[in-house]
Amino acid sequence: MSNGVLRVAVTGGAGQINYNLLFRIGSGEFFGKQQKVALHILEIPEGMEALKGVEMELNDCAFPTLKEIVIGSDPNVVFADVDVAILVGAKPRGPGMERKDLLQENGKIFVTQGKALSDVAKKDALVFVVGNPCNTNCLICMHNAPNIPNENFHAMTRLDENRARYQLAHKAGVSLSDVENVVIWGNHSATQVPDIENVRIKGKPVKEVITDHAWLQGEFMETVQKRGAAIIKARGKSSAASAANAALEGIQAIRGIEGEGEFFSNCFLSDGNPYGIEPGLIFSFPCRSIGGNRVEIIEGLKWDDFMQMKMKDTEKELMEERDLVKDLLKG
Ligand code: NAD
Ligand code: LMR
Repeated sequence: MSNGVLRVAVTGGAGQINYNLLFRIGSGEFFGKQQKVALHILEIPEGMEALKGVEMELNDCAFPTLKEIVIGSDPNVVFADVDVAILVGAKPRGPGMERKDLLQENGKIFVTQGKALSDVAKKDALVFVVGNPCNTNCLICMHNAPNIPNENFHAMTRLDENRARYQLAHKAGVSLSDVENVVIWGNHSATQVPDIENVRIKGKPVKEVITDHAWLQGEFMETVQKRGAAIIKARGKSSAASAANAALEGIQAIRGIEGEGEFFSNCFLSDGNPYGIEPGLIFSFPCRSIGGNRVEIIEGLKWDDFMQMKMKDTEKELMEERDLVKDLLKG
């Protein structure tokens, strides 16, 4: 941080998610009311006019925490000296598509941006990928950013975690805060595995509280896995405010603002993971913050046979995605 100002890069500044996200960063909700921030906002040239409108609105909020706004289309300029990079700018899917269908078009964005971050961002920058397919885009970005440690790269499954928490609390008729240890495993896709073994409701294993196990294995999992598609069908556009909210909570959790040691879902490099998942993937694990922008994977959770089988599917999908982009890896 220079002069006590946290420099936060955000890409896709004229898009839907950012129409919520940027204002929550500017207002101090993201990083705290005492933390001055500078927003470094990247857009493609076609989006710059709209971004100028967003910049005017940010100025018109007169947020005391927002010290500076930098906008532009060149990542080598916009990413200069940033402490945090939230990579949202990418095409969203439309009805009937899977997120991996975006890989061909969106993957290359993360080559350019990974290289630029590596060259001009702080060497300990935290990189948080939202643009889909976020796990494999994050992998591409990490491979192209050799100057930033691999453990600084994260992709977002916090939205899926929040979706799962809501479904479980609603079914059990309890408060959201009564549902603990909610974990999403694997890919932010329809193969993700919302945990049904380690979640606790009022301190008890979820299966003791929700005795309809067919619901847990069926409707619950499917609702969470396909929630993004359900929103696209209903709204005609993909989730935006809930995605921005999840980015806020996900980054706060990584930075330990949410409470150091708390349990959260986060996609992270699988090398050396304690669950036998193929190395070299960005896989969603239960994580906890260990301070200084660092997280560790929580060990010792158990899977039942059903989860074990589902875990293979999501791991296989991520390996297939990695194969599809092998030309974009290793810079
Ligand atoms: P949007 O189309 O409204 O906005 C995307 C913006 O990114 C556009 O303004 C576009 O011009 C810009 N952009 C495109 N390429 C860029 C580049 N190379 N550099 C900078 N900006 C660029 O889309 P949205 O609804 O805001 O969603 C953005 C992405 O986030 C999509 O890929 C979407 O699927 C994904 N998403 C992920 C999650 C998640 O849980 N991980 C949740 C919601 C949405
Ligand atoms: C979501 O989960 O809402 C996003 O990933 C958008 C999508 O394509 O589903």
